[in-house]
Amino acid sequence: MFQTEIDTSTDKAAVWLRRGEVIGIPTETVYGLAGNALNEDAVLKIFKVKNRPHFDPLIVHVHHREAISRYVETIPDAAAALLEKFSPGPLTVLLPKKPVIPYVVTSGLDTVAIRVPNHPLTLELLRKIDFPLAAPSANPFGYISPTTSYHVYDQLHGRIPYILDGGATDIGIESTIVGFQNDRVTVYRLGGLSVEDIEKVTGSVTLDLQRSSDPRAPGMLQHHYAPRKPLHFINSPDEAPDTNAGYIVFQHALPHIPAHRQIILSPAGDLTEAAKKLFSAMRQLDKSDVPVIYAVRFPDVGLGRAINDRLMRASASPSQPDN
Ligand code: TXA
Ligand code: MG
Repeated sequence: MFQTEIDTSTDKAAVWLRRGEVIGIPTETVYGLAGNALNEDAVLKIFKVKNRPHFDPLIVHVHHREAISRYVETIPDAAAALLEKFSPGPLTVLLPKKPVIPYVVTSGLDTVAIRVPNHPLTLELLRKIDFPLAAPSANPFGYISPTTSYHVYDQLHGRIPYILDGGATDIGIESTIVGFQNDRVTVYRLGGLSVEDIEKVTGSVTLDLQRSSDPRAPGMLQHHYAPRKPLHFINSPDEAPDTNAGYIVFQHALPHIPAHRQIILSPAGDLTEAAKKLFSAMRQLDKSDVPVIYAVRFPDVGLGRAINDRLMRASASPSQPDN
């Protein structure tokens, strides 16, 4: 057990990481649970603290796109073009790993997921240490990802020594995961970088968004990002039947539901703002006295697609107990 400290010092963060401990770190997407990616014991601690199954691989974080070549065998042109345009940023690329990346990080896969997070404190931290950071989102496995240091503290205090406090995250949903096999650009997870923005650089991409809960399809597990309370994902406000339930809506209040039972993510109709507030809204309703949560489908464009993906997964019935 630790007395968990929350602070803005990257020096303190570096000390814990050099000792092989795992800590909370801010990124522009969500908070991560970080450890030395080259130290197997530190990586194993990440899985333990999160209660994460070992078949679900971790993302490696580096301070600059030029550092990526230390850890991967090749960078295809399409990957280089995306990294040039969107790094640092909410882009994760899947590339063939060099032996220096331990298989515990990749769950035995020969590709590693790697990205440059766009957060000043974490970039400062990454420049201070001489190893990359493996970091999944800093939530217990299956639960909603954290977008503030308090969210991390709320669930992991006592289990980690330190949380680097970088305020509320800017983007609010995880990075977009892109792979480059067989000369195709494939999006495996929708996220903070929209498919439309990727296609402006690479031309049309393939989507391979696993719906299954098959452990061989790591991480894209169907039941994920879920609150403890049942969440129903509905297509239209007309399906909102229950005045006692809590609602998550995009832009317009539902006329027949009391105002205090609905969270409007962006009255201005901005999907970027909605993405930023989504996970906090889910946590807020999960902690409130509503017995059940309804979320109304968002427009299926830009970040709306990633929002709908998260809500769909949060509403799927559990295929296994989530911790
Ligand atoms: O925005 C983000 O990506 C955040 C912040 C902390 O960087 N991290 C994050 O990590 O969302 P996590 O562990 O919650 O999600 C990582 C996803 C998982 O679905 C995992 O299966 C997938 O990335 N992944 C990791 N390595 C992979 C690999 N080598 N091949 C395929 N999928 C991989
Ligand atoms: Mg996660």
